[in-house]
Amino acid sequence: MARLLVNGKSHTVDVAPDTPLLWVIREHLRLTGTKFGCGIAQCGACTVHLNGQAVRSCSTPVAAAEGKKITTIEGLDPHGGHPLQVAWIAEQVPQCGYCQSGQIMQAAALLAKNPHPNDQEIVDAMSGNICRCATYLRIKRAIQRAAQGV
Ligand code: FES
Ligand code: FES
Repeated sequence: MARLLVNGKSHTVDVAPDTPLLWVIREHLRLTGTKFGCGIAQCGACTVHLNGQAVRSCSTPVAAAEGKKITTIEGLDPHGGHPLQVAWIAEQVPQCGYCQSGQIMQAAALLAKNPHPNDQEIVDAMSGNICRCATYLRIKRAIQRAAQGV
């Protein structure tokens, strides 16, 4: 059994301690906004927050998330109104969309730590999140927009 706090709600799930957090989020809790990309911590599609830190949920055992505050894209803002989500729409960032929740969660962790990142800090923070549609320029513009509060 694992006891988890996800998006402010408590859950108890019957899984082995080494079950990837991503599996629990998607298959047990049915929060499917977090995506499976590579499964080996190489793409960032599965990014969620643990106590505000961006982590790869495909490579995080559920036991490591117990006792921590887990936030998924569904919990970033109750109404989808996080500044990054607003900026993402304004900049029309997504193409296929598959990588985008991971991108937003990675960017949200960046802005929480550094509200006004410069270009290089954005590139560095986002460099591990792969987008096969190559929306990188729009991602960067959206992060800049959110940081400027416009
Ligand atoms: S699915 Fe987790 S990093 Fe790719
Ligand atoms: S929008 Fe298609 S993979 Fe990023």
